[in-house]
Amino acid sequence: MGDNPRVMTRPHRFSDIADRFLTRRALLQGGVAAAALGFTPVGRIAGAPARAETPGLQFEELGRIGKDEPTHHVAPGYRAEVLISWGDPILPGAPAFDPMAQTAEAQRKQFGFNCDFIGYLPLKDGAATTAEHLASGESAHGLLCVNHEYSTPRYMFPGMKNSEAVAANSTPETIAVEKASVGHTIIEIRKSGGAWSVVADSPYARRIHAETDMDIAGPARGHARMKTDADPDGVRVKGTFQNCAGGVTPWGTILTAEENIQNYFTGVASKLPPENAREAASADSFSVGGRLWMWSTFDKRFDINVTPHEFNRFGWIVEIDPYDAGSVPKKRTALGRFRHEAATIVAKDGKPVVAYMGDDQSFEHIYKFVSARTYAAADVAANVDILDDGTLYVARFNDDGTGEWLPMVHGQGGLTTENGFDDQGDVVIDARRAAKVLGATETDRPEDLETDPITSRTYVAFTGGTDRKEAAPAAPRAPNRRGHIVEILAPGSDGDRDHTATDFQWDILLLAGHPEAETNAQGKYGPGISDAGYFAQPDNLVFDPKGRLWIATDGADEIGLADGLWACAVTGPERAVTRHFFSVPVGAELTGPCFTPDGETLFVSVQHPGQGDGGSFAEPVCRWPAAMDSAMPPRPSVVAITRDGGGPVGG
Ligand code: FEO
Ligand code: CA
Ligand code: CA
Repeated sequence: MGDNPRVMTRPHRFSDIADRFLTRRALLQGGVAAAALGFTPVGRIAGAPARAETPGLQFEELGRIGKDEPTHHVAPGYRAEVLISWGDPILPGAPAFDPMAQTAEAQRKQFGFNCDFIGYLPLKDGAATTAEHLASGESAHGLLCVNHEYSTPRYMFPGMKNSEAVAANSTPETIAVEKASVGHTIIEIRKSGGAWSVVADSPYARRIHAETDMDIAGPARGHARMKTDADPDGVRVKGTFQNCAGGVTPWGTILTAEENIQNYFTGVASKLPPENAREAASADSFSVGGRLWMWSTFDKRFDINVTPHEFNRFGWIVEIDPYDAGSVPKKRTALGRFRHEAATIVAKDGKPVVAYMGDDQSFEHIYKFVSARTYAAADVAANVDILDDGTLYVARFNDDGTGEWLPMVHGQGGLTTENGFDDQGDVVIDARRAAKVLGATETDRPEDLETDPITSRTYVAFTGGTDRKEAAPAAPRAPNRRGHIVEILAPGSDGDRDHTATDFQWDILLLAGHPEAETNAQGKYGPGISDAGYFAQPDNLVFDPKGRLWIATDGADEIGLADGLWACAVTGPERAVTRHFFSVPVGAELTGPCFTPDGETLFVSVQHPGQGDGGSFAEPVCRWPAAMDSAMPPRPSVVAITRDGGGPVGG
């Protein structure tokens, strides 16, 4: 979902990185040595060692699709089928979805609302351990692990046609339904005869929501600022919500990112007492107080003036073991607290584990965590809790195409008591403030980060930042109305990069936008994209097993397009030549793209279909996946995309 705009200007050295990027690309195409023209070499311009080229994509492109289409579309030769929708039964005893008779008890057993990140983990019949399941690479039988980002009462319940009606008509029961509709779902799925279906009564099936007990792990566990009357030890918290992007670990767990947590809290930061000055600063940073949701009316833990520490207990990465339905999710506080997006893992046997993460708010930052322990590929169980101990870093991008990862360690670089950091718990709870003390680069709403399985280069989707007044390193447009994708090169060569290092180089893969828009919103892609190949607001990313980058959008309607999915190579002649593959129905954004290990199925989430200006449960702009003449409201759903006759998606 979108950023809450926050007006803020900071001095930045101006540099027209966009122009330099274009010049470099032209030079490359012309075969001219960049160094001869006085450019600081970056990435592939630097005469870097030869590298494997990403295989090109081979599919007939989906034509350009406008923003008002009532249904989804996929490229010719593919089929896209709804696998599961909001309200579908998950757990034993769950009733069929009845939008006019919703209860919290039913919703806790049904698929949640606003599906987002998807992780797929293989299941092998007869396997006894997670390691055996993982090693199978099974691509026709697995666990589908799906985030549910947030509730939208206007579209979930009858009689809530605007915010006044939501305020007037919310009840303890509707709030309980909302709380049960967010979080995460785990289902078992199987492919048979080329079609996927949900396995009924699976022992793995699970709903995790805003009241599910979870442990607090890492440096903030037991911290004074994590303690509440309900949890005097600061070790156990009820629930997770605003679960947006995420990641899958090679040890078979899911990492889910708590993003816009401020939306469920209310209160006035300036009325907090002096002993809660840090909580007040945090609430201001997240923009608590918008009063868009009504949870605090019926549950005072969401009122920061009543329960000041509860807000500190959200905004984390939560690790879930989907292979054990009885496992307790853990909030991994070593990874910092912010409007989390993504937690994508790079792991090499015998090396520390690296997790890349973003903070989706204008002028916030990019982070990575490097574990203290090393990854044991042959001993899956040995990696449990590896994310509790290590070093959190935040990125500084330099104007010359280099960058550094700045360690966020208590006592170093100004993260001291005199600056309000008494210990590492304070550093992770107030990671945003710590990042600013360290001089981290303020970026344009980083959503997803993904590392190419072939080249080991890392890509960041910046959805855009209209508040930006001046260009900055890795943020070349001010304002950034259309978003862009940055390439981060850890030291080394393609396929062999040291992600634990503290230095990196960066480049711009593409600038999103219409190729013929005015200068500052003009899209810049690889040469020769089609009339359907451009987009706006890149958001979620995923690599297929062959190393092609798939880009989901959130806001392409701003240039008249349906949101959807585009794909491109990241090396070779088709670098950044994006092609259109899938579009979502009106009102929706596309989230959570996820491939099976064999690359033959692509799962996507269609989030908030049918939502438009002035719309509601009774008057949506479409009722997808049902027809417009149905009595059903629009239902966020997961779609499974496969190729007619089988084979890898994208060719
Ligand atoms: Fe939930 Fe950053 O989108
Ligand atoms: Ca998102
Ligand atoms: Ca992703």
